[in-house]
Amino acid sequence: MTKPTSEVERVEKASLAELGDVHIDDVYQHMDWTLKQRATPMELYYRWEKQNWSTQDLDFSADAIHWASMIEDFQGIRDELQHTFTLFFIGEQAVTDTLSPLVHAAPDEPARIFLSTQLVDEARHAVFFSRFFEEVVGIKGGLAAALAALESQKVAGFRTIFDTDLVAATEAVREDPHDYGKWVEGITIYHLIVEGMLALTGQKFLLETLREMGILPGFYAGFTAVARDESRHVNFGVRALMEAAIRDPSHLDRLEGVIRRLLEPACRIVVAPDRRYGIRPQETPPNLRIDPHDVRDFSLHSLTKRLRVVGCSKEFCDEINDLGRSYYEADWAEYEQLHGEEHPYRFFRLHASSV
Ligand SMILES: [Fe+2]
Ligand SMILES: [Fe+2]
Repeated sequence: MTKPTSEVERVEKASLAELGDVHIDDVYQHMDWTLKQRATPMELYYRWEKQNWSTQDLDFSADAIHWASMIEDFQGIRDELQHTFTLFFIGEQAVTDTLSPLVHAAPDEPARIFLSTQLVDEARHAVFFSRFFEEVVGIKGGLAAALAALESQKVAGFRTIFDTDLVAATEAVREDPHDYGKWVEGITIYHLIVEGMLALTGQKFLLETLREMGILPGFYAGFTAVARDESRHVNFGVRALMEAAIRDPSHLDRLEGVIRRLLEPACRIVVAPDRRYGIRPQETPPNLRIDPHDVRDFSLHSLTKRLRVVGCSKEFCDEINDLGRSYYEADWAEYEQLHGEEHPYRFFRLHASSV
């Protein structure tokens, strides 16, 4: 077993308060280390016992002051942040509502025990967002009120995978809990696409922005704790799918079919071409600019590196990477067509080629 680095050990043991100073890249380094160990469900369970945290221990008073003060100088960034917060709020609510069939149908006791902890985590994440919206963003009334504060079409694309594929896959497991293949399919959508690709990507760029701005300390600590929870979830999913592939290679074919089918809508969720960005890179302070190429590369790498561990061939992963890149290009082109203006990727491409 390779020795953990000091960053990995720090993330492993950090209290909620200490997480307020942890960089998301260190959380991901810890996650990669756990991936290499092929941690078992019970090892992940024991980690959960030690890494438990409470939303009630978070203090949002400084966050509320920061949020209110952003109206004057950072309205564009504030709007973008609120949009991202809302997407995560929807996501946490959706995964909380759809996990229980996967717990019930788990193929063995260790998997059921681990997934029970995940169910609690997802509920805690939804409560965390609900508190943040109420005390900082100033929207009371839970998810329904948060959604009403945004125009409904702005989140339509985002809801496709959550409202259709995730619900259909977990409903199929609920109706037929003894069909292990359906469970494998559910874990593929839930743990690999929704968490391992979409959530990890969103977390990274959101936390990096807040760290650069030096704002929202309560949210930062809580959301870093969320990210550490997600790292256990994703690692559980990878290990469960790896075992499924060993048990019967036909499960790998099924998994690959799901990835091929959902890659296009997953990339679309990241780009959201139907939503016009509130702020252009030219108007954004240089340290807060997010290069869409970095987002694309991180999201595809996040998915394919886990597919490799599960047992997919290098050829399949390369195919997924190429396909993903073509979907991003198509979504960027669609953005330009819909809004009649340049997509931010052009700014970065121009900038990169002029250096
Ligand atoms: Fe979560
Ligand atoms: Fe999760």
